[in-house]
Amino acid sequence: MKILLLGKNGQVGWELQRSLAPLGELIALDRHSKTYCGDLGNLNGIVKTVEDLQPNVIVNAAAYTAVDKAETDIETADLINAQAPKVLADAARACGAWLVHYSTDYVFDGSGDHAWREDDVTGPLGVYGQTKLAGERAIQKSGALHLIFRTSWVYAARGNNFAKTMLRLAGEREQLSVINDQVGSPTGAELLADVTAHAIRTACCREDVAGLYHLVADGETSWFEYADYVLNFARDAGIPLKLATDGLRAIPTCQYPTPARRPLNSRLNTEKLKTAFDLCLPKWQSGVERMLTEIYGKQL
Ligand SMILES: NC(=O)c1ccc[n+]([C@@H]2O[C@H](COP(=O)([O-])OP(=O)(O)OC[C@H]3O[C@@H](n4cnc5c(N)ncnc54)[C@H](OP(=O)(O)O)[C@@H]3O)[C@@H](O)[C@H]2O)c1
Repeated sequence: MKILLLGKNGQVGWELQRSLAPLGELIALDRHSKTYCGDLGNLNGIVKTVEDLQPNVIVNAAAYTAVDKAETDIETADLINAQAPKVLADAARACGAWLVHYSTDYVFDGSGDHAWREDDVTGPLGVYGQTKLAGERAIQKSGALHLIFRTSWVYAARGNNFAKTMLRLAGEREQLSVINDQVGSPTGAELLADVTAHAIRTACCREDVAGLYHLVADGETSWFEYADYVLNFARDAGIPLKLATDGLRAIPTCQYPTPARRPLNSRLNTEKLKTAFDLCLPKWQSGVERMLTEIYGKQL
């Protein structure tokens, strides 16, 4: 099996380089790759890459993920999140390849408190969500065999993430305010990459699994509870924090204005995925603990 991976150096892309390697020949590109074009902003270049390589599977981990910047950089967000997936899907259909793509809880308006199902009505609150939804729809319309995984609150040990930011700030300040009315599930890039590899194995012998799936770690939390969990873990591990024991303060979203509105309810129902691929999804805490242990391994 020949697999073309785009966006190899993002949080998810990096983990996919590991999880996809045993499945076959892996050609992993980023926007700076020289031999083949991996720049999603170059639509003709991306089509030529697919035509030249004739992969069996294309995995697109590249995206415009700067949620706030997207509000004023609409053209680029649309190019990378909507137009490029459309072109990729058309190219995938032309060569009979599967297209695996990632989308987001931001396609929903965040109302209510139920876990969103795949066929619930969408209603993005900002440009990032709108462009990601347009990308999903273009792939669905293309006729290409596809797997689209909507996920949320992605973190990885590599690069910056929410937990690391909380630990850094807690080392510098006595008080910290964190939003407590946005609810979702922190999902590790490792988990996304591992489930993707399992799903590709299944899809290659069962075309009926093609479609859109919600993929997040099990359970739910708020950013405030997530921060509290991380800081308690650090305290238990003996990591010195300047933050007072009662220094973590819960605030509503309205007290932390950002250019892009965020959904309050980012719960995603994963039953469809678990049934289709016969998988279990671990609790969000296990991936977060693993990531913290990896980062702070020397201290723990
Ligand atoms: N992060 C989250 O919390 C979250 C939540 C829900 C869904 N998702 C979705 O999950 C997927 C993976 O996200 P992630 O967290 O891994 O994002 P990420 O770490 O921001 O990685 C995105 C990658 O896309 C690359 N990219 C951007 N523009 C490109 C272009 N023109 N050509 C080629 N590559 C380009 C970036 O490269 P550069 O570094 O060179 O810019 C980066 O490596 C995306 O589809 C995202 O929408 C993410």
